[in-house]
Amino acid sequence: MRLREKVALVTGGGSGIGAAVCRRFAREGAFVVVADVDRAAAERVASEIKERGGRALSLGVDVRDRAEVEEMVKRVEEECGGLHILINNAGITRDNLAVRMTEGDWDLVVEVNLKGTFLCSQAAFRPMRRQRYGKIVNTASVAVRGNLGQANYSASKAGIIGLTRTLALEFARAGICVNCIAPGFIETPMTAGLPEKVKEEALRRIPLGRFGKPEEVAELHLFLASPESDYITGQVFFIDGGASIGI
Ligand SMILES: NC(=O)c1ccc[n+]([C@@H]2O[C@H](COP(=O)([O-])OP(=O)(O)OC[C@H]3O[C@@H](n4cnc5c(N)ncnc54)[C@H](O)[C@@H]3O)[C@@H](O)[C@H]2O)c1
Repeated sequence: MRLREKVALVTGGGSGIGAAVCRRFAREGAFVVVADVDRAAAERVASEIKERGGRALSLGVDVRDRAEVEEMVKRVEEECGGLHILINNAGITRDNLAVRMTEGDWDLVVEVNLKGTFLCSQAAFRPMRRQRYGKIVNTASVAVRGNLGQANYSASKAGIIGLTRTLALEFARAGICVNCIAPGFIETPMTAGLPEKVKEEALRRIPLGRFGKPEEVAELHLFLASPESDYITGQVFFIDGGASIGI
């Protein structure tokens, strides 16, 4: 069991990649906090983990809201006795060409993806520093290279890389590692609704010739959350079937 005695908080844990991370971490002995703006989804994942003999707690949170984020971390400390791992996974898209993108859609995506990652990391710092141990894993995307119709999303995810590197510098002396994963096309509810033409085009650009699965991404999260990666910080890991190499 690679995460025994560890408390792991996963934002956006109610669906897709986040849910796969929650299940994987629970199997490694972690006490998993499934946090999501969709409370019912978070509760479903937590219940499933508990039915299988794991330890889990579900919490409703909007990562854009500082008060809610601070309350979440307080409850995690009180109910789980600490916080060792933070997976900043909550994220959304609101795609449109830049010329047609509304200010509201720009703000929403940047607030959830980038500000949410900042607020949760800031709140997790105190308990992690007290333990002199912490692992933070942020979530970027291959879209950081630029992607048609994703000015807001691509900018928010590129911002997360700058944030990761800076937090890694600032948190290192407290014993906290901060890294980032950048998934390619992963089969989750986020990508399920994309038009067939967009999916075909995405598939054409993947050297390994298939989409990724949430469970495959969760294995990278597990590595970056476990002691095996204790000498790695400030790094970005692409998990995309080779899509970021270019064809
Ligand atoms: N699926 C992909 O192909 C892909 C590729 C690259 C990056 N990503 C990133 O991976 C992460 C997970 O994506 P996914 O595909 O599993 O998506 P998903 O839509 O299946 O899950 C996202 C979860 O985040 C939650 N969420 C949304 N806004 C929130 C908020 N304000 N506060 C708290 N929770 C909130 C949602 O309720 C949902 O449960 C995201 O950051 C996404 O940008 C996904």
